[in-house]
Amino acid sequence: MPFVKILVMAGSLRAGSNNARLAALAAKEFALAEAEVTRISLSDYPLPLFDADLAADSGLPPQAVQLKRMITAHRGVFIASPEYSASVTPLLKNAIDWVSRVREHGEPTYAAFKDRVFAIGSAAAGSGGGLRSLIALRQILELGCGALVLPEQISVPRADQAFDDMDNLKDENLAAALRVLAQRLIALAGALP
Ligand SMILES: Cc1cc2nc3c(=O)[nH]c(=O)nc-3n(C[C@H](O)[C@H](O)[C@H](O)COP(=O)(O)O)c2cc1C
Repeated sequence: MPFVKILVMAGSLRAGSNNARLAALAAKEFALAEAEVTRISLSDYPLPLFDADLAADSGLPPQAVQLKRMITAHRGVFIASPEYSASVTPLLKNAIDWVSRVREHGEPTYAAFKDRVFAIGSAAAGSGGGLRSLIALRQILELGCGALVLPEQISVPRADQAFDDMDNLKDENLAAALRVLAQRLIALAGALP
């Protein structure tokens, strides 16, 4: 059976981002579970703030099309989503909004979000572990974009102290939960028709 292709990204560009750490760790788990993993940074897809007039006048930015193609080249997508003001980062929401507008070759709307499975996680400074960011992201993906999102999710509280020197999660239960989530995403993505 061919390896399941999984895409991993974080909703932060910050140097030393905890969500980039979480994304890297998730990528390691996907690889250990024998998926074919691609990890990207949204810094490679710089996008202006979404403006419907801009899209109408100038067309979609090539980076939006490239990001959409990157997503559609994979069967599973893991997003590590920081929590900003009880929601997702503007970076991540803006990227999703642009990608949601890309339709190629007569595709249906929200093409990037169909025919694949998403899994989400958050590492946040607060004790809530970015749970509110995950609720917001689940709403955007499921209700906004019609995506299938795994019920399992990973939530890392007090993220500044959550990782050891090797960028592994110190909490063994969280580390195990991430492993299970990775296996679940691979299983479900691999079972898609
Ligand atoms: C504008 C802003 C809003 C934030 N709001 C929250 C919040 O609602 N809850 C929380 O736990 N942390 C909040 N934080 C702290 C982030 O969780 C923390 O900076 C985290 O490390 C950001 O993710 P990153 O490390 O991947 O960049 C906020 C940070 C910023 C800059």
